[in-house]
Amino acid sequence: MPALDSSINVAVIGAGAMGSGIAQVAAQAGHTVYLHDQREGAAAAGRDNTAKILQRRVDKGKMDQQDVDAIVGRIQPVDKLSDIADAGLVIEAIIENLEIKQGLLGDLESLCSDQTILATNTSSISITALGAKMQKPERLVGMHFFNPAPLMALVEVVSGLATDGTVAETVHATALQWGKKPVHATSTPGFIVNRVARPFYAESLRLVQEQAADPATLDALMREAGNFRMGAFELTDLIGHDVNYAVTNSVFNAYYQDTRFLPSLIQQELVEAGRLGRKSGRGFYRYGEGDDRPAANTEAEQGGSIHKTVTVEGDLGPAKALVQRWQEAGLEIEERDGNGRIRFGEAVLVLTDGRMASERAAAEGIDNTIVFDLAFDFATTTRLAIAAADQASGQAIQDACALLQTAGIAVSRLADRPGLVIMRTVAMLANEAADAHLHGVATVADIDLAMKAGLNYPEGPLSWSDRLGAGCVFTVLTNLQNSYGEDRYRPALLLRKNHYANKGFYA
Ligand code: NAI
Repeated sequence: MPALDSSINVAVIGAGAMGSGIAQVAAQAGHTVYLHDQREGAAAAGRDNTAKILQRRVDKGKMDQQDVDAIVGRIQPVDKLSDIADAGLVIEAIIENLEIKQGLLGDLESLCSDQTILATNTSSISITALGAKMQKPERLVGMHFFNPAPLMALVEVVSGLATDGTVAETVHATALQWGKKPVHATSTPGFIVNRVARPFYAESLRLVQEQAADPATLDALMREAGNFRMGAFELTDLIGHDVNYAVTNSVFNAYYQDTRFLPSLIQQELVEAGRLGRKSGRGFYRYGEGDDRPAANTEAEQGGSIHKTVTVEGDLGPAKALVQRWQEAGLEIEERDGNGRIRFGEAVLVLTDGRMASERAAAEGIDNTIVFDLAFDFATTTRLAIAAADQASGQAIQDACALLQTAGIAVSRLADRPGLVIMRTVAMLANEAADAHLHGVATVADIDLAMKAGLNYPEGPLSWSDRLGAGCVFTVLTNLQNSYGEDRYRPALLLRKNHYANKGFYA
């Protein structure tokens, strides 16, 4: 389906944070945009705010005054809802309330022509439920922008049970025309992003609850080893714990309290205490004048390598890029057949497979087992988490630190919990993404695109899972499930199938 021509008028209802931003996006694409809000003066204020934001870009030499004047001129605040009657696309961004939105959609149906597409920016209400009272629910579609709408590339185009495919295609093409990265999704709780992202927060919160490490250390690992823009604690402090906790609860309840989405008691406690994050001056971190972020826990430098040779047994899988770093640091590499172990002095290092180091040490009969975490890219990572088996000697731990430090990697030692942090987070993200795909929520490519464009993830979870090799994520999850004895970590059916078929999501 072609995009809506820019000669077609667009209406945005609700001139709050989202509506004003969406109006700007449509006006930038050349549409005349009617902006309406039931609050007197709110639509004009929304337009004026957009003008102010764009003026700053002119002042910085990033935009021409002429272009800004034209964009702002195309945004027309209107007092009466009936003034939008000739719009070809209406996007509602009013209060998140089913009955109020249903009422507005009913009014729009009687005002606008039969051909007008009605879109909703709802972040959590079912499109099917919103359409249930409409005469023609076929023309209702979710057009879910992210905040701030002019800057965030992702738009989830969400189809309810009755949504006409051509309506969804038209809105998809239009979002693309507007410079966005649209994805198709079916109307399921959380759509793509708000569902698939839950483990990003949940696994870190759980690790703090289990006293694996403090928030600053886990955040540093997510950034420096995982290549995420922010760790879970700094990000939830930014989003606001009330907002993040409410989304988690809503998804948890919408999926009939599936333990995969279990909310965190630690986060509940913060909300109850009013420690909502940046906006209240305190969350996991303090935001007062002169409050510094605590430093990540980093092992002391071992002061030069005591051993000259590192022994690499078999294929190190995703961690094989470490070998070159050791070579470049002047270590001799001795290669042997084996199961992906690295020996250095007393230490025997292995990439986590989702078991605790102590369990693995007992199962494999190697007391000095030190497990290390996943990194987004072992060739460049500047930090890595390790955990030592309780059976391991102090010397083995020192040797493991020395080996990683030789390659220029800062080491954060976590308490011995299963799956460390990056590996279990990526595994659970891929698990959720795989299930969303299995249930027809979106294609593999759209899920990955949504997580990158909506949340700036360094890679889509399904592509990341493929890169780790068939079976890696499945094994990690199976071991996490065994470790905890919890349904929460059950591997998704598609991960299981891919493991046995020796294939990936993209193959
Ligand atoms: P907001 O509170 O900033 O703005 C809502 C505006 O709608 C207010 O100006 C209010 O006066 C107006 N309004 C309420 N009822 C109305 C009605 N019946 N007719 C006309 N105007 C009405 O809210 P925000 O954050 O802009 O959210 C709007 C919608 O966008 C909600 O559905 C929300 O779930 C969704 N959304 C919000 C995101 C966010 O990060 N804030 C992100 C993505 C979606």
